[in-house]
Parts: sequence; C-alpha cells; structure tokens
Amino acid sequence: MQTTVRPSAGEGAIAVPQTQAGAPESLKARIRAVRWEAEGINTYELEPLPGERFPPFTAGAHINVRLTPGLTRSYSLANDPSQRDRYEIGVQLAPESRGGSRHIHENWRPGQVVEISAPRNNFPLEEGATRTILIAGGIGITPMLSMIARLEALGRRWELHYVSRRRAIAGYLDRLEEHLPANVLFDEEPGGLRLDLAAVVAAAPPEAHLYCCGPAGMIQAFEALAAGRPPGTVHVEYFSADVEVAIGGDYVLELRRSGKTVAVQDGETMLDALLSAGANIGFACSEGVCGTCQVGVLEGVPDHRDQFLTEEEKRANRTVMVCCSGSRTPKLVLDI
Ligand code: FES
Repeated sequence: MQTTVRPSAGEGAIAVPQTQAGAPESLKARIRAVRWEAEGINTYELEPLPGERFPPFTAGAHINVRLTPGLTRSYSLANDPSQRDRYEIGVQLAPESRGGSRHIHENWRPGQVVEISAPRNNFPLEEGATRTILIAGGIGITPMLSMIARLEALGRRWELHYVSRRRAIAGYLDRLEEHLPANVLFDEEPGGLRLDLAAVVAAAPPEAHLYCCGPAGMIQAFEALAAGRPPGTVHVEYFSADVEVAIGGDYVLELRRSGKTVAVQDGETMLDALLSAGANIGFACSEGVCGTCQVGVLEGVPDHRDQFLTEEEKRANRTVMVCCSGSRTPKLVLDI
C-alpha cells in the first residue's frame, strides 16, 4: 500500500522517520517476483543486487520508492522482518492514482532494477505490549502483516480486525487464514457485517496497544473513539491523503542556519520554493502524510495542512511539513 505514517496519537513527541543507523539512503533493488493478491492488488518482491544486502527493518516500516524523477511514493513492508533477503510491498492500483500505483502496475516487471530508500519506521510496533489490537481497512492491511509476523515470533497476544468492501478486492486473505485471531469482514457483500470500531476500542484493556491503518475516515473515527486511552497506546497510519496543499504563497521563509531568505510565490508550495533555492529537503509523499519533509520552525505560525502531526503538535508549531503546509504569518523562520 502507499503509506503514510504517524506516531501514537497520545504521544507528545515529534516523530522523525527512523532509518537504520548506517544504512545508505538510496538502494538498488531487483524485482524478483510480482504476485497477484486480489483485484487491483499486487505484491512486488524486491531483492538486493548480487553481492549486496538489504538493511534490516522492523515491523511497521516502509520504504520510499523512486518511480520517475520527481515521483516518489512510500509503501509499507509487508513481509516478515526476520527475512533479510527481500522486501515485499503491496500496491493497490488506485483509480484516482496520480502516477504512483499506476506507474508500478503498468511498468514494474520481474528482473527490472528499481531505486528505493532504506526502510524507515514511523509506525513501530510496541514489542513489549502484552496485548496488541490491529485494525486495518482495505490495503491498510500491509503494515499489519509484518506486525503479525513479529508478534507471532515474539509469542505475543494479538488480534486483527480487517475490513474490506468485498472479498474479491481483499488482499492477503490466504496469509490471514493461518491465524485464528483474525476477524475479517466484507461490509459491502450481501449480508456482510460492518466493523464495529466503537466496540473494538471500548473492549480494549488499558494496557493494550491499538494500531489502525486504513482510509482517512476510518482513522479519524478511530482516533476520536480512542481519544481517552492512555497516552502512547494509540497508533495510526494514513495511506491516502485528503489534504488541500497550500499554494497561496505571499510569505517568506528565513532559513536560519543557512542564512537565506526565500519568497514563496503564489502557485508554489513551501517545498517548491525551498528546492528552487537549493535547500536540501527530503520528501516522499508530497501530500502531508509520510513525515519525510518535516522541518523545525523557530518563529512564525505555519498553516498546517498535513495528516502527519497530531493536533497537539500542530498547535505547538515547532515543526512543519513543507510539502503541503503554508504560513499564517508573513514570515516563517525555519531551522535549516
Ligand atoms: S513529503 Fe510526505 S509529509 Fe511531506
């Protein structure tokens, strides 16, 4: 799935994408196999080039995939983190795709070499939790697959609630059928059941860690239901953006460390302006969901448009996602 990630809703800490220490930022990978999973969903199995090794990853991690110049997308790693010889990503062809999933489905074939990032993890599994509750909607199942593998390896107690509109478009059912704690629902099938999110959250004991990945509406409902839970026990990962990118311009950026001043013009994003000025800013999703473009704010008030930061983090104004956010003040001073 195309992924975007955010830390536990109850945490005040700002999440910065975690890359394996010492791992190169950019890697070459060969497409070893393409596997059909369900209507519109393929798994792409990637392997290192001869003589090379992939950096290890942890459950819930994702990689950024460089598709064409200027087009990078993030996808969760869906395989068992103990597998050191491959990365697997599940890609759903989005009808409204702006190029990411369509490019992969139409162009990626076994044997080709593609460019990816080292794994990053903004949706890490709390491995010490005595109980883990996983809630997935649609292609949001993919990060849960690596989590399930890890939880099984650790012998931890877990349960999964996975909802898809129809069986035909639900990926990875074969893997899940091995696991009894999986509650799989098809809510648009005749006689199908809806996921009772409120009941799942209400039944979760205080010590349980809850993870939700799916469409924005599902995550927002989940976050609202879980708002009263103990801090740090609620974790979400968005995979489709519903953001209106700020392109109104008419403000300036002071780059405190480099001493530059950059004007953001009408029609461009903060990221556009920074890249044009030669700033070295990493970015992936370009839609406020992955957290890659996070920059510290020293003065001024951003117009936050992202889905990555919590509401508390947005109010604190200590950081901004430059790919989609703007400024409420004539000047923003950035810590770059
Ligand atoms: S590039 Fe993903 S949040 Fe900005």
